[in-house]
Amino acid sequence: MGTYFSRDDLSRLRALREVLIGIEDRPEGTDAPRYWSDARDLELYDRVFAARIGWKWDAVLDEVHRRAGLGAPRTVLDWAAGTGVATRAVLGRLGEAPERVVLVDRDEKARDHAASSVREAFPGVEVECAAEAPEEEFDLCLASHVLDELDDRGLAALHGAFRRAARVLWVEPGSKITARRLSKSRDALLERFEVVAPCTHREACGMLAPERGRDWCHHFAEPPAFVHTTGEWGEIGRELGIDLRSLPYSFLALAARPSEHDPALVRRLGRPRSQRGRTLVDVCDAAGVREEQLLQRDDKDLFKRLKKTFWAAPLLRREESGRLAEER
Ligand SMILES: C[S@@+](CC[C@H](N)C(=O)[O-])C[C@H]1O[C@@H](n2cnc3c(N)ncnc32)[C@H](O)[C@@H]1O
Repeated sequence: MGTYFSRDDLSRLRALREVLIGIEDRPEGTDAPRYWSDARDLELYDRVFAARIGWKWDAVLDEVHRRAGLGAPRTVLDWAAGTGVATRAVLGRLGEAPERVVLVDRDEKARDHAASSVREAFPGVEVECAAEAPEEEFDLCLASHVLDELDDRGLAALHGAFRRAARVLWVEPGSKITARRLSKSRDALLERFEVVAPCTHREACGMLAPERGRDWCHHFAEPPAFVHTTGEWGEIGRELGIDLRSLPYSFLALAARPSEHDPALVRRLGRPRSQRGRTLVDVCDAAGVREEQLLQRDDKDLFKRLKKTFWAAPLLRREESGRLAEER
């Protein structure tokens, strides 16, 4: 029995985590399991796993805001909404609420949870639910933590929904298998979209180059400070064996409207590696993925931040001198 979660809740959370982690590398050709047994599973998922996913969405939305903004979508589709965390994160950032939100999930209990959580947080918004995406155009299509559950048909349906949208935001775990799958989808969607982020170019994904087979495009979000100080999150970390300091994710922000890429922008990927007087960083631009260095003497503050965190300075700028500097 925990202080914040009952023994039954902790076993449900452990079982859910095991299922969710196992989906990524299940044997080829087998269907992903259906794991929502009842409303309590969804409540617990929302309190723990979706909260962490929400912090990844915050990082993505920060970057999208810095790069091109979200526009002012009137219609939003959340494909495989689960408990609705992606929609809530996005609606929380919009100046004006959309007119209509459609929450798609193959599970009815998930749809019910998502709809009530979105209605509660945004009472003025018209919320609809569906088991499959309607064949309509949406201003913004969201997807989050679903890629590994899809077979070829499911992936084609998701791509279809994206292709009918003007913008796409898609967040997935930062693990190697999933992030590399996401890179493949990115390349497949290039004929319809420009990439707003994380890429600073529209060439083929550099991570899929034959010599990069061991790497994957991933990033780290900053967890809120309270995960290190509150008893509830302490219990979650301890009981579920989650490293609360680490929030790896992969993502794609796409827009159908052509946007110019600034050739001087370079995306930093993965974990920075601090050494004496320099930080080694993996970076990506139109020329592909490679390792570069940032010198301590060029920017002492950035050197310190990269030593302490994985998430500082996701975007860098190549200056005329050839040096890489933080893009603010
Ligand atoms: C891990 S949950 C993620 C939910 C939510 N997007 C999030 O980020 O928390 C994946 C969800 O995808 C739904 N799902 C899986 N395959 C689907 C499909 N082919 N069509 C619609 N929903 C699907 C599941 O029912 C589940 O609710």
